[in-house]
Amino acid sequence: MGADSGEALGLPSARLTVTFGFGAGLFIRDGKDRYGLAARRPDALVDMPKFVGDQLAEARTGGDLSVQACADDPQVAFHAVRQLARLADDVAQVRWVQTGFIPSYGTNETPRNLMGFRDGTNNPSTADPKAMEEFVWVGEESPDWMRGGSYVVVRRIRIALEHWDRMKVAFQEQTVGRHKYSGAPLGKKNEFEPLDLDAADTDGNPVTPENAHVRLAAAASNDAAQILRRPYSYNDGVNFTAERWPPWRQAMEYDAGLFFVAYQRDPRTGFIKIFDRMSKFDMMNQFVTHVGGGLFACPRGLAEGEFIGQSLFERA
Ligand code: HEM
Repeated sequence: MGADSGEALGLPSARLTVTFGFGAGLFIRDGKDRYGLAARRPDALVDMPKFVGDQLAEARTGGDLSVQACADDPQVAFHAVRQLARLADDVAQVRWVQTGFIPSYGTNETPRNLMGFRDGTNNPSTADPKAMEEFVWVGEESPDWMRGGSYVVVRRIRIALEHWDRMKVAFQEQTVGRHKYSGAPLGKKNEFEPLDLDAADTDGNPVTPENAHVRLAAAASNDAAQILRRPYSYNDGVNFTAERWPPWRQAMEYDAGLFFVAYQRDPRTGFIKIFDRMSKFDMMNQFVTHVGGGLFACPRGLAEGEFIGQSLFERA
């Protein structure tokens, strides 16, 4: 066996980052304390509730360990995952994999998702340490091994693009609650103007519909809850259904959508708090289905000479 599979030879590191997380199963699975870690499971690493509309496939859900590899070059990201899987071959096995992409990442423009809308506009700023401390980094409330880390929620969300693409842009904008081309809130011109959820038209109807995605997701609708979203898109081809429409053609569905990745200080006051009402009322639900995902506790970054999760695995 070669020391390295070789497909990244000569490539630059392409800003590769690798982020690890631990799933609930590492601490306890089927009531069994498999590694003597059950007492160290943080309260915030909850078993995820089942949300309205969830169709999570077992084969793409959960896991004991998560590895998120990001790079400007997909071959570099895959290389990292593949080498780690190979090194861990005797002790771990791959459960599921999802690739994703963000167009023109690193430019000044907010990237567009596959619905054609800018995604990530109203995120807490990573340049604002106070916001990061409040909403993203874990603090004193958690076991010491998680301090300075973060909880990541991932969801594989299929978007019925074949259905979405038939909608008028005005209807798409009502669904999202923002203008498609500029990314501005409805009734506004510029992307970064604040949402005004109280704005009404001349008939007194809300400019941003009651069940628009951004209204239900906004901090103002969720007791100030916020999460840091990293909206990757995915495109895994197409599936054909038994249905024929028009009769001369077999109906086709894209297996494509959003690989939703969101970091937060505590999922109970982050994703779960925000998504509970959205899963019931969001107009976008007509077009999206959650088909996989997980929740993982990501310990903080490493000091030199340290290994991932050292303070979790080392006995006092
Ligand atoms: C396929 C699924 C989804 C799509 C296509 C989508 C798309 C969008 C778009 C276009 C925006 C407006 C731009 C922005 O501020 O980023 C937005 C905002 C937002 N979305 Fe989603 N989203 C999806 C799923 C979710 C889920 C599952 C959550 C769960 C909590 C969520 C939470 C949010 C939040 C918190 C905002 C910011 C709202 C604000 O404060 O203005 N989204 N989303």
